[in-house]
Amino acid sequence: MPLNISIILSSMRHKSQGVRPAKFIFNKCKERGFNVTLIDPKEYNLPILDAMYKEYAKGTAPELLEKLHKIFSETDGFILLTGEYNHSLPPALTNLMDYFREEYFFKHAAIASYSGGPIAGMRSAVQARVFCGELGMTTQRTMFGIPNVHSAFDPEGNPADESFHPKIKRFLDELEWHANALKEARAKGLPF
Ligand SMILES: Cc1cc2nc3c(=O)[nH]c(=O)nc-3n(C[C@H](O)[C@H](O)[C@H](O)COP(=O)(O)O)c2cc1C
Repeated sequence: MPLNISIILSSMRHKSQGVRPAKFIFNKCKERGFNVTLIDPKEYNLPILDAMYKEYAKGTAPELLEKLHKIFSETDGFILLTGEYNHSLPPALTNLMDYFREEYFFKHAAIASYSGGPIAGMRSAVQARVFCGELGMTTQRTMFGIPNVHSAFDPEGNPADESFHPKIKRFLDELEWHANALKEARAKGLPF
């Protein structure tokens, strides 16, 4: 069975720069044979959290939450593709993910980040590791940072700089290893 990978974007902006690198990562995941789903907060447009998914009585959660619950429950590995807002995680990313909890437990998360300048969103990427840790996920050392995002990819997701190819390979190599290891371990049972 192929790994199920979910790529979660971070921005509600109609001009979001995350869409082009998302295409690049999505295509690279496909090349590896992953079953990959792109989650764009703009397409879900979830309100600021009132009740988590699990707080709804069975069968009464809004349709979009049911859809995300199913996707996240079946996901083996998450890729957070985060921008950086005021040295922090964009609220669209945390708000969307905050609706769920157990869906993430004992799974792996890999962090990709970008920003308009040379820092590549690294300050939010570091926070994303802490955030994913609290959600019960393992995170990996290899990140995928994209500086100067405005000019880094064309609209089809092709990189302007060839060095993105070996960088994404290492990033996805590590993701694949962890996601497979945890998938195997989850099949044997969970500690709680
Ligand atoms: C509210 C806001 C805060 C930002 N703060 C930072 C920042 O702290 N560091 C940084 O490098 N870029 C910052 N930027 C610039 C973003 O890196 C750049 O606009 C990026 O494209 C935002 O992601 P998005 O296009 O997916 O919304 C900020 C942009 C916005 C809209």
